[in-house]
Amino acid sequence: MAAPAPQTVIEVRHWTDRLFSFKTTRDMSFRFENGQFVMIGLPVNGRPLLRAYSLVSANHEECLEFFSIKVPDGPLTSRLQQIKVGDHVLVGGKPTGTLVQAALTPGKRLYLVSTGTGIAPFLSVIKDPQVYERFEMVVLIHGCRFVKELEFGRLSVEAVRSDEYLSEIIGDRLIYYPTVTREEFVRKGRVTQLLESGTFAEETGLPLLNPAEDRVMICGSPAVLQDMCALMDRLGFEEGALSKPGSYVIEKAFVER
Ligand code: A2P
Repeated sequence: MAAPAPQTVIEVRHWTDRLFSFKTTRDMSFRFENGQFVMIGLPVNGRPLLRAYSLVSANHEECLEFFSIKVPDGPLTSRLQQIKVGDHVLVGGKPTGTLVQAALTPGKRLYLVSTGTGIAPFLSVIKDPQVYERFEMVVLIHGCRFVKELEFGRLSVEAVRSDEYLSEIIGDRLIYYPTVTREEFVRKGRVTQLLESGTFAEETGLPLLNPAEDRVMICGSPAVLQDMCALMDRLGFEEGALSKPGSYVIEKAFVER
């Protein structure tokens, strides 16, 4: 693996007591595919302490962006949440991951199903002009416990929709479908329940998820992945990988510490 290189922090935003996002500089030589993750971290006791983080920024953007939870006793996130503009963060040189277009067979609609910080890779994917060439429609589903936890994703979607260049390509083909589970909101329920019960289809007017037309990318906690994979299996989807593209792909929302 290429040695991690220090990048300068250029923006930090704290969204809740559990969530923050930050931007760093980017080396021109750092290349990645939208949806991939990279190892990032900080030097601790003279050695790099690194964890996998999805890139929120798209590969055409000048800076790198990340979305993180804060774990009070987490070896990395307890330190990372203290970063300020001008500090350095280590960014590994070898992005990887399965939430990439090449792991999916062609389809009509692309579903991006996420919970918590699992939305991160999809904020990169929805900025990719090629995704809208491949798919007629892109559906971003994000489930959180509380409304405030949706804010980073909501504003990122708004920025994509109002981007001068992207808005022309996207038009009305990007559907954003947020939901929360632990307080009142326009929509309430787990992403799995909303998809399986038909509530999502009723509310959006889209057909029920089906492997003939739909392709699905999933990113969330291990429990969410387990339940979503079981749903995918019941619906007849087949998991894809770069070596064998399929109708759905998964990735863990990594940082738990
Ligand atoms: P819930 O409030 O019912 O646990 P977290 O912050 O723990 O990562 O959770 C993010 C969101 O994912 C929450 O809305 C949570 O709902 C939901 N969630 C947790 N487990 C599952 C699961 N197995 N399937 C679908 N959604 C889940």
